[in-house]
Amino acid sequence: MTAPAPSGWRWDSPAARKAGDVSAHARLYLRMMAQSDYAVRLAPAVGKNYVDVLDIGAGGGSVTRHCLADGARWCAVEPNPAMGEALAAQAPALAARGIRLEHIAARWQDLPKSVHADAVFAFNIGDSHHAADALFDALAPRARREMVWIVPAQAAPASFCLAGFLPADFYSDNAVNRQPAVERTLEQLGQSRQPAQIDYIDWQCRFNFATRQEAARHFLERLDCSADSTQGRALRAYLDHALQAAGDFAGNATRFAARNCQNGGNGWLAACAKRSAVVRWFFS
Ligand SMILES: C[S@@+](CC[C@H](N)C(=O)[O-])C[C@H]1O[C@@H](n2cnc3c(N)ncnc32)[C@H](O)[C@@H]1O
Repeated sequence: MTAPAPSGWRWDSPAARKAGDVSAHARLYLRMMAQSDYAVRLAPAVGKNYVDVLDIGAGGGSVTRHCLADGARWCAVEPNPAMGEALAAQAPALAARGIRLEHIAARWQDLPKSVHADAVFAFNIGDSHHAADALFDALAPRARREMVWIVPAQAAPASFCLAGFLPADFYSDNAVNRQPAVERTLEQLGQSRQPAQIDYIDWQCRFNFATRQEAARHFLERLDCSADSTQGRALRAYLDHALQAAGDFAGNATRFAARNCQNGGNGWLAACAKRSAVVRWFFS
């Protein structure tokens, strides 16, 4: 394909940072992760049977809930109202397992100093690669035993979940857009805060768009370009041949994907390979 004009897309631009930050994006993120194998792949790498967890930027808790022991305490710090609704919807299933969910509708920066737990989680939150040193200094003193972060590690933008569905020339006009976010995390942490352990986990992000138009709107918005720009036209041309009809895909799909295919197997599927780093510190 012809390379589109440089987009100006930057990993730290407002368009890049909004995933999860406003309700519409939060709901899209939840649907996307529900159709992906993010939780299935990441939860075993984090571990199970945690009994006392402070979960920063908990979202809908898709990974965390698989890591908790029956009877656990789950203190979920989550400022986004749509994510808060997703947490509340789980209350009956959690209660059946004796899990006590405490939702604190606040940012980590505003958390009272008195909030501690045996384990502190921060899974896939932007500050783990935008301000890792400040996040570490705020969270480490709250962890009695262990802290675990999940940080994007694919060579594609961190906060544009389906970026890897596009050829890299749509977003890699500067090298930083291809730098795995976890490399920035480790740089920002400096020598004194380096983790004890890092495990790299591969998974697949997928989303079933109801129509081709919905898919085009999504990618145009995430690339922050208009439909009639050079890049917008190149994007439409690319999507025309790259989106897969979900019905065709279901024939080849894993059982996981077929089970999670919304819209009754209709629609247009975009999928891409992802990698996450599970980054861990131990405290005594
Ligand atoms: C991409 S989602 C990840 C959600 C969940 N941890 C997961 O792994 O699926 C990022 C979450 O971080 C939350 N978040 C963003 N800024 C935050 C802050 N300053 N303090 C706490 N949470 C924040 C967002 O509301 C959003 O729910």
